Amino acid sequence: MGAAAPVILSLAGLGKSYHAPVLAGVSLELRAGEVHALVGENGAGKSTLSRIVAGLTRPDTGSMRLADQPYAPADKPEAERLGVRMVLQELSLISNLTVAENLFLRHLPNRAGWINYATLHDHARTALARVGLADLDPQRLVRTLGVGQQQLVEIAAGLIGPCRVLILDEPTAALAGPEIDRLFEQIKRLRQEGTAILYISHRMEEIQRISDRITVLRDGCLVETRPAAVFPLSDVVRAMVGREVDDTQVRTPGTLGPVALRVRDLCAPPAVHSVSFEVRAGEILGLAGLMGAGRTELVRAIFGADPRTSGGVYLHGSATPADILCPRDAVRQGLALLTEDRKQQGLLLPLPVRVNITLNALARFCRRGWIRRLPESLAAASWVSRLGLKCASPEQPVRELSGGNQQKAILARWLLRDCRILIFDEPTRGIDVGAKFEIYQWLNRLTGEGKAVVVVSSDLKELLAICDRIAVMAGGRLTATFARGEWTQEKIMQAAVAGTRKAEGITVGGE
Ligand SMILES: Nc1ncnc2c1ncn2[C@@H]1O[C@H](COP(=O)(O)OP(=O)(O)OP(=O)(O)O)[C@@H](O)[C@H]1O
Ligand SMILES: [Mg+2]
Repeated sequence: MGAAAPVILSLAGLGKSYHAPVLAGVSLELRAGEVHALVGENGAGKSTLSRIVAGLTRPDTGSMRLADQPYAPADKPEAERLGVRMVLQELSLISNLTVAENLFLRHLPNRAGWINYATLHDHARTALARVGLADLDPQRLVRTLGVGQQQLVEIAAGLIGPCRVLILDEPTAALAGPEIDRLFEQIKRLRQEGTAILYISHRMEEIQRISDRITVLRDGCLVETRPAAVFPLSDVVRAMVGREVDDTQVRTPGTLGPVALRVRDLCAPPAVHSVSFEVRAGEILGLAGLMGAGRTELVRAIFGADPRTSGGVYLHGSATPADILCPRDAVRQGLALLTEDRKQQGLLLPLPVRVNITLNALARFCRRGWIRRLPESLAAASWVSRLGLKCASPEQPVRELSGGNQQKAILARWLLRDCRILIFDEPTRGIDVGAKFEIYQWLNRLTGEGKAVVVVSSDLKELLAICDRIAVMAGGRLTATFARGEWTQEKIMQAAVAGTRKAEGITVGGE
């Protein structure tokens, strides 16, 4: 890609308002064969801009040209017919259909009204192989897939058919190392074919790795577009957040207390096999691993959200196993789990941000059966400002928030809750760098108060920055545990592929 590459798509003065302006006068050009990164804080307007390009939202002002023709798609199918495709930030697959049906929803191969399933499944296998899911049965129902797999299916759907402009809105939020590599190979292939790619991500190292040019949005305005080669990440972050953020070394290890959570030979087939580990009060333990390694299944089994067949969970130093048969039992005994799936997490979409934040801590604001609104509102407002949660007011319905801001509301709910053991599954998915830093500080504070924290994250860099120890899972087993200072990215990745490659000689789970 050179500066001489032709412009495929140009945006001129795009504007959009809801309660307040969300985009104002954004002008941008996408060239053939470039990866153009779009970055900005949660609520900056990235998804809104993408949705306008993809035909999902109409702009209030401004115009677009595609290959030098006026371009104003009425809907997504029209944009797709013209070669503009978008992989959405929020998972949008239909859970009760199969993978194959989801992939080809709008172009199911049929003869005289009968769907030709043999052809459909063949096409689906080809599409899945592109994103490394060659082994996934196209007849599986989407609801049986994990979040990472759903994300890959969504990407596979976006890669079907000819494409002049491809928009990827946080495609890697639930993906780890090798899965991201595979996506990047596909991006390279498209780029060589002359596709322009608009790439949105909060993971700065990806932006650095993949982009030709970077555009920063801030509060709906375009701050700057520069070639990536002359736009160092520290400058990108400063343009996004308005200050310096160093999120590489944020852990301040404290004094460790007694063992708070001990897991012994826990089995929850088919995903979890005989896992043992412990976490002490004041400690942050990370759980690393690839998609499907069993991390989510493990924490769900600990929490009583999924059945376990054997093994025990011991809480707060007790010698007898805790009686956890359902999540309510777990909560009663001081355990909290933030799950990876925002939809399942129980955001009450039509209700205000305030209610969503204070929901689990209402007892704290109650007196004689009445909720005291003032302290409740103050608590919510303080989290809104602490995490930079962008909303018109704490009374705005959560439904209207951007993806990252919805995640902030969930996190605030869990951070506000007074539990002695906190398990977070992908806590910072889709959250901007500035707010991530705040969340890491808060984890330091929680462990400083003697709480035990377990963090599952597909972002290895995040685990390296915040954990005291990192346990690695592969194929449903713990394959290694490293203390801060012992680990390297290579060692962790090696342990993460141990189960899949059946590699020998990797030290097993030191506790
Ligand atoms: N339907 C809507 N009604 C009201 N406000 C909306 C609506 N859709 C988006 N907004 C507002 O527009 C702003 C920009 O949202 P957008 O989703 O474009 O942000 P984003 O940059 O993609 O953020 P994130 O990184 O969190 O995904 C947000 O403040 C959001 O609350
Ligand atoms: Mg978004």
